[in-house]
Amino acid sequence: MMATAFEVGSVDELPPGSARIITVRGVEIGVFNVDGAYHALPNLCFHQWGPLCTGKITGTLAACARSDWHPRWEREGRIVVCPWHSLEFDITTGQCLAYPRVKLRRYPVTVEAGIVKVLV
Ligand code: FES
Repeated sequence: MMATAFEVGSVDELPPGSARIITVRGVEIGVFNVDGAYHALPNLCFHQWGPLCTGKITGTLAACARSDWHPRWEREGRIVVCPWHSLEFDITTGQCLAYPRVKLRRYPVTVEAGIVKVLV
């Protein structure tokens, strides 16, 4: 089946750091602007079906061998936190930070004549 473009809003209505939720064919999709790049994820958390895309957009505290296991703040503006139980997801990849095997579906997003559209 060919993807259909659904209007999200104008680029002015979706500035960097913001998100908007639209309903397409009965499915809620969250569209985010991360530093000028648009990303779309299902507004549904795999954990207990919380409204993931209504969560806070932030960064995350991480520690790894590169930082000699000292925690540091990273990915500012790229993380959405599920409002129900605080699982974190990378908006740009759909990756759940706590569960490496969980990656959300991502929808393509285009901009035509100043209008942001998601392809479903
Ligand atoms: S429903 Fe999202 S963390 Fe539980």
